[in-house]
Amino acid sequence: MLAHPRRLQQITILGATGSIGGSTLDVVHRHRQRYAVFALTASTQVDRLAGLCQRFNPKYAVMADVASAERLRRILHEAGNQTEVLAGAEALAEVSSATEVDIVMSAIVGAAGLKPTLAAVRAGKKVLLANKETLVMSGALFMDEVAKSGAVLLPIDSEHNAVFQALPHDYQSNPDAAGVRRILLTASGGPFRNTPLDQLEQVTPEQACAHPTWQMGKKISVDSATMMNKGLEVIEAHWLFAVPPQRIEVIVHPQSVIHSMVDYVDGSVVAQLGYPDMRIPIAHALAWPERIASGVSALDLFDIGTVSFERPSFERFPCLGLAYQSLQRGGLAPAVLNAANEEAVAAFLGRKLGFRAITEVITATLARADTSAPATSIEGVLDADAGARRIAREEIDRIFARRQVS
Ligand SMILES: NC(=O)c1ccc[n+]([C@@H]2O[C@H](COP(=O)([O-])OP(=O)(O)OC[C@H]3O[C@@H](n4cnc5c(N)ncnc54)[C@H](OP(=O)(O)O)[C@@H]3O)[C@@H](O)[C@H]2O)c1
Repeated sequence: MLAHPRRLQQITILGATGSIGGSTLDVVHRHRQRYAVFALTASTQVDRLAGLCQRFNPKYAVMADVASAERLRRILHEAGNQTEVLAGAEALAEVSSATEVDIVMSAIVGAAGLKPTLAAVRAGKKVLLANKETLVMSGALFMDEVAKSGAVLLPIDSEHNAVFQALPHDYQSNPDAAGVRRILLTASGGPFRNTPLDQLEQVTPEQACAHPTWQMGKKISVDSATMMNKGLEVIEAHWLFAVPPQRIEVIVHPQSVIHSMVDYVDGSVVAQLGYPDMRIPIAHALAWPERIASGVSALDLFDIGTVSFERPSFERFPCLGLAYQSLQRGGLAPAVLNAANEEAVAAFLGRKLGFRAITEVITATLARADTSAPATSIEGVLDADAGARRIAREEIDRIFARRQVS
């Protein structure tokens, strides 16, 4: 058994007020002798972040905008709290790359997570990557930065964390020698796995966010309902583990107990199991290569009893097919896919679009946006993201107008 590190490890949590942020703080709190909170960040939830600052006393708190930062500053000042409050994208990058920081949890949702995560990578931090959109948008460029800086990148998505655990520990140094035949990503199938197809257009945001096995933020919950989440994860797995798309297979496994598997050329399949609770991959990555308690109880296989597997339906879940196609197309296509999806999901959550129109917006945006150029710079990726969002919003307005008429 390795000895505990003597110094407290300083952690920045990007997206502290979210679902992953909350689970991370739960694990950190259980191990106060190992971890101290350096910075916490949020976008809209000022009161929630104020409460977290009172509880964890970070050196810094960052709000996305100046007005929210001012409100937070006032609340903390009145409470006699010493946390310094900052605002904006540059501040996010600063608290992700500061010399004192050892670990950065990247748990902002969506494209907004790209720049601070990149800042952490460039500063050579141990980066716990929950924000899959970063890798989807900038895959090769991001992995190049990891290789250049020597940052330690650990996947938090339960599927990728499972694959990481099922691969040999020296996989990254010689992936070809590992004998990996396929990566098998499991998927719950979401809340609409058995909903009749002709009822899907009527489903509400509340129904889409009521995931059968995982408690998550709204955007990823809708992504799970369309299975775009699994599509984004296929792209993420491709970049993390250098495996081509045709060797990454999605398997619907409604019990969400097997978090993913690696199929080896000798016929062995290695899986990681656990309850569907994000504290497991978070604790794994926080302490890696050691192990610490996550607060999750021991898996009771007798209680689970049965596990089952199904092929995903590309007819029911067209977003899964769109993600595979974007990865095959390469270049800027995954960034366009991601941006169109974020806009369409926001419009669905705002009740401007029906559920099935999410696919329509993404398909139309991919058809109209110029994805032929290779992704050669982060600036180019961000331009493609902005351009795709403009097109997607036009498509949303067009579909909305059509709905008003009919
Ligand atoms: N939840 C899960 O179980 C899970 C599992 C695997 C992967 N992930 C990934 O982890 C990421 C976070 O997911 P989540 O479910 O935790 O999301 P969430 O609950 O919606 O939380 C998102 C966090 O990001 C902050 N945020 C949102 N927009 C921002 C912006 N423009 N600038 C700065 N901060 C912003 C939010 O702040 P406010 O709350 O203050 O607005 C919140 O702290 C996503 O990329 C998701 O795909 C999540």
